[in-house]
Amino acid sequence: MHEFDTGSARRWAEEIHRELLEEGDIAIDATMGNGHDTLRLCRLVGDKGKVYAFDIQEEAIEATRALLERENLAGRAALIHAGHQDVKEYIREEANLAVFNLGWLPGARHAVTTLADTTLPAVRACLELLKPGGMLTVCVYPGHEEGARERDCLITWAKGLDPLRYDCIIHAYLNQPGDPPLLIAVRKAEKSRKMKKTTRML
Ligand SMILES: C[S@@+](CC[C@H](N)C(=O)[O-])C[C@H]1O[C@@H](n2cnc3c(N)ncnc32)[C@H](O)[C@@H]1O
Repeated sequence: MHEFDTGSARRWAEEIHRELLEEGDIAIDATMGNGHDTLRLCRLVGDKGKVYAFDIQEEAIEATRALLERENLAGRAALIHAGHQDVKEYIREEANLAVFNLGWLPGARHAVTTLADTTLPAVRACLELLKPGGMLTVCVYPGHEEGARERDCLITWAKGLDPLRYDCIIHAYLNQPGDPPLLIAVRKAEKSRKMKKTTRML
């Protein structure tokens, strides 16, 4: 038997990104932070693609710019100093992928964290910007109070999405101590479909 790694929320999110993205695609990094996701996405979309990355903290923009310049990939990204809830003011084209990695900037003030009140409008806006077949991934960290709020709001929101237009999945550990991170992923259907009476087998 091979060893199977049940992995982390981040690992599953990254697997989706790798499977989905092709050269020339458009990706949104809704939580730029220190730029590790932005860099990974820049590599996946290639020279002809583009990554729109958002953060409300100047230090996140600076850290990400420095990282991309070191890797000679700055030309593939637009680094936007704005809240992800305003994504539609900055992006005028459809995207293949939107990525959220919630919480606070590693190594910075915990006071600046993502908030359910802005995360919810942001995921809604990103879903509207997605192309048919596009995906949204959200890594959620429910181990702190606001993170638990985000988890609850996002699960309620995702459960309510029209099953004819979206598939929503969750990767969460059910038996681990504490509140391990979880992944919520939404795929926009290629085209509106008719629901069979039986449960969809994924
Ligand atoms: C966990 S970090 C992201 C880590 C990042 N993806 C990386 O690879 O380093 C979350 C980031 O979200 C940012 N943030 C908080 N509220 C935001 C908002 N409304 N819009 C955009 N970014 C926000 C924080 O400033 C922080 O840098």
